[in-house]
Amino acid sequence: MRVLILGGDGYLGWPTAMNFAAAGHEVTVVDNYLRRRIAEATDSEALMATPSLSERAKIYHANSGHEISVRIGDLCDPEFMFDVVRDTTPDTIVHYAEQPSAPYSMRGFREARETLQNNLDVTFNCIWAVKEHAPDAHIIKLGTMGEYGTPDIDIEEGWIEIEHKGRKDTFLYPRAAGSLYHTTKVLDTDLLWFYVRTYGLRVTDLMQGPVYGISTDEADLDPGLCPNFHYDDIFGTVVNRFLVQAVAGVPLTVYGGGGQTRGYLNLRDTLQCVRLAAEKPADTGELRVFNQLTETFTVNELAERVKGAGDKLGLNVEIRSIDNPRKEKEEHYYNPVYSGLTELGLQPHYMTDEVLIEMLERVRVQSHHIDTDRIMPRVRWNG
Ligand SMILES: NC(=O)c1ccc[n+]([C@@H]2O[C@H](COP(=O)([O-])OP(=O)(O)OC[C@H]3O[C@@H](n4cnc5c(N)ncnc54)[C@H](O)[C@@H]3O)[C@@H](O)[C@H]2O)c1
Repeated sequence: MRVLILGGDGYLGWPTAMNFAAAGHEVTVVDNYLRRRIAEATDSEALMATPSLSERAKIYHANSGHEISVRIGDLCDPEFMFDVVRDTTPDTIVHYAEQPSAPYSMRGFREARETLQNNLDVTFNCIWAVKEHAPDAHIIKLGTMGEYGTPDIDIEEGWIEIEHKGRKDTFLYPRAAGSLYHTTKVLDTDLLWFYVRTYGLRVTDLMQGPVYGISTDEADLDPGLCPNFHYDDIFGTVVNRFLVQAVAGVPLTVYGGGGQTRGYLNLRDTLQCVRLAAEKPADTGELRVFNQLTETFTVNELAERVKGAGDKLGLNVEIRSIDNPRKEKEEHYYNPVYSGLTELGLQPHYMTDEVLIEMLERVRVQSHHIDTDRIMPRVRWNG
């Protein structure tokens, strides 16, 4: 397949690119370094330094013999997006190119507007580039489980059948996001659904939970191929923050009551899910939705797991509850369905002690770079 990866410099984009190339696909990555710029501006750089995209492509080629083509540019510019799609004539487009930080999107007017415009523009331009220049291409769009919020009923995979006054129909599952960033993902889904039913595009929308992990078969070939590992309050997801706190010897900061439940998955499983979706594509005129997670935990359970793994390494790990900076339920029902990707062939890597210990050891090597001031919440939207 010819595979175009939008947002190929990102935490998920770069390992995905190597994974498709390793499987023999022809890969092009596109990025404008938005995440690196925001990280620098907010003092939130990754723990391990990562070379530029072209340098990473050279390192990967030297280690594997596989080529990855690199294009640098802003996908909000329709001319650039159209050129890239025309030039590469992709069979599959993996769309990761968004501003993905909930706290950044809640920092103020400028950041909210930037997130809204960036995310919707890239999705809109991608849809039109496909419609005009590659109508058979399969778009794999990264959504988030955060689109659904935490409803008091089971979360279905994208669609729900509703019976109302004796009649039945199937609708997109109701969504109630908890940040402006997550709301842009809801809007993305609506845009995609409109163009799927109007022009017959083929789309897979992956409702992904928070991803953790540093290691993949390809990333482990050379330190220069390591995914961006963020541990700050802006880009760091909760597992990464806890691991770094455990190594730095500061208490793991649980937001509020810690009963917030979410679905998590290992980076290796993100790669599997995206590959499976690409190799078994949606049909023409289909918006296929999968819930992309492999297990669910409360924040308290996560903290206990990291503490357990840290204790085995002789780290003295403490857990402390702090004021929740976010507006979210701290105790709630949570029961998402996530069988679709397993039916396609996903073989999950679970969050075992061994997995956590391996990550703690990788973080420990970099412990002299940890700045603990970056971990405490700097953005609040809870009153
Ligand atoms: N990482 C997770 O835990 C997680 C969970 C659920 C969903 N997602 C979604 O997966 C996708 C990838 O997430 P990630 O963690 O790799 O984020 P990331 O920020 O590391 O990667 C996104 C990449 O897209 C690029 N980008 C953004 N706007 C662009 C533009 N206008 N033009 C060109 N490039 C642009 C950024 O520079 C960045 O390199 C995002 O859409 C995110 O919402 C991620």
